[in-house]
Amino acid sequence: MKSINMLTEIELLIKSNHSIIFIETAEEERADALIKHVADRMNLGFFIWSASKGLRRIDGQEEKGSVYQTVELALALGHVESSNFPAIYHFQGVTQYFEDVVTVTRLKDCSKTFTDKSGAIIITGLDIKIPDQLKPYSAVIKIPEPNVEQYQELLHHVLRDLQSKMHIEFKLDTEELNKLLNNLKGLTLMEAEKVLTKAIVEDGMLAPKDINRVIDEKIKVVEREGLLEYYPNEEAMDSVADLRGLKEWLAKRKEIILQPDKAREFGLTFPKGVLLLGVPGCGKSLCAKAVAMEWGLPLLKLDPSNLYNKYIGESEKNFKRAMQTAEKLSPVILWIDEIEKAFSSVSGDHDAGVSTRIFGTFLSWLQDRDGDVFIVATANDVQKLPAEFLRKGRFDEIFFVDVPDPESREAIFRIHLEKRGKNADNFDMKSIVEATSGFSGSEIEQVIVSALYTAFSNDLELSSTLLLDEIRVTKPLTVTMRDRIGYLREWAKGRTVSAH
Ligand SMILES: Nc1ncnc2c1ncn2[C@@H]1O[C@H](COP(=O)(O)OP(=O)(O)OP(=O)(O)O)[C@@H](O)[C@H]1O
Ligand SMILES: [Mg+2]
Repeated sequence: MKSINMLTEIELLIKSNHSIIFIETAEEERADALIKHVADRMNLGFFIWSASKGLRRIDGQEEKGSVYQTVELALALGHVESSNFPAIYHFQGVTQYFEDVVTVTRLKDCSKTFTDKSGAIIITGLDIKIPDQLKPYSAVIKIPEPNVEQYQELLHHVLRDLQSKMHIEFKLDTEELNKLLNNLKGLTLMEAEKVLTKAIVEDGMLAPKDINRVIDEKIKVVEREGLLEYYPNEEAMDSVADLRGLKEWLAKRKEIILQPDKAREFGLTFPKGVLLLGVPGCGKSLCAKAVAMEWGLPLLKLDPSNLYNKYIGESEKNFKRAMQTAEKLSPVILWIDEIEKAFSSVSGDHDAGVSTRIFGTFLSWLQDRDGDVFIVATANDVQKLPAEFLRKGRFDEIFFVDVPDPESREAIFRIHLEKRGKNADNFDMKSIVEATSGFSGSEIEQVIVSALYTAFSNDLELSSTLLLDEIRVTKPLTVTMRDRIGYLREWAKGRTVSAH
């Protein structure tokens, strides 16, 4: 791979007496191969340390055995410190020990010994926060995400390798090849190599259907991190009634999304995103899905409550990683449903510290992020949202989604009746619409579903009477939660734009 520059850079850093080198990367294995290469070039020994196996010496491709009793990091560092052997030591997964002052001091002591002997300590990881103590002795380099040329080089490499073992048919035209390579974006080179090899070996060819395999693989990678969920495109804008204002706003930006480069030349930047606030059940989530469909972009969903459930103590780091994943897959839509859940404890809870930090991270990410990520955030409860969040400029627009007006209620009835194979013209729309004042879209849908159950169990056809019966026994949220919704509406005045 095109790692020559990285090799030279690491080599130069070691020669200029940087005794600790941090390498920012998601690909520790790739970094390891790189470091080994540097050690060979510089005629230095090569050791690797991991928490499970301790310190091991690697010579060429071979492992020369572990150093006795070095599974514990402190002991491994002690060994490095007392050894006179010129070598490069690659420490994997140690950044988590940086909170511990004793370990950090040991690392510092250890690094000082490299003024008398050749070599260095190399630490790899993601989002490394270098302890202040170590800063004077260290340097940081970042292995950049692979680009299309690197994927192409990788593909040649894989093809050449496999061709020596089997017959391979190459069935992609230039456009398909580009599509395949573009879709590898977001995968590490290791992951890409695995996917490509598997796709080729299975049927002895590389064909258009393999593009989908790559996409599938990417979905897996995205979901493996646990915070993001990949949503298949299935909801069309046609199935969303009402919300004309929002739809027009989105339509106006469609061309920018589809041709970001052209738009940039024209002086337009990729839109940041929208915040949809409003009454529950009125189509906010539905809209997020429809936008993705309309713009033909992948939809990634972030469920803020997962931030705390799954990775207590690691929330901030995982949040960052989720954001980076979204960036890597851009252009993409990032849907953050019920965003208030992520920040609700900013003002004093047991984990207030963590959520305040996440909040800060998120705000700054919103301001200056890399890559074309359009955010659709939804929220029901403004009281739980910190004021900074709602300030103009974070989002392109804040929309308020209220219950549908009579005309929109009819449209929603029509959509959901027709979805269930019923002809809306056979119903007394006027009475139904009149009777459902204050109903949300989801309550309307629920009325239809319940009435269908009743009809089915009584062996009847769905009728206006059955619908009206169901409407009569439904208490809409706007009635049961009158005060809260009243507050929300009052709040929204002057601060938001109507989505209708
Ligand atoms: N404007 C609409 N057009 C068509 N269907 C709608 C509309 N609004 C709501 N619905 C129906 O109600 C269901 C629930 O709506 P949705 O989940 O989008 O509401 P929401 O605003 O996100 O609510 P919540 O705040 O509870 O998350 C949708 O799946 C859809 O079937
Ligand atoms: Mg919702």
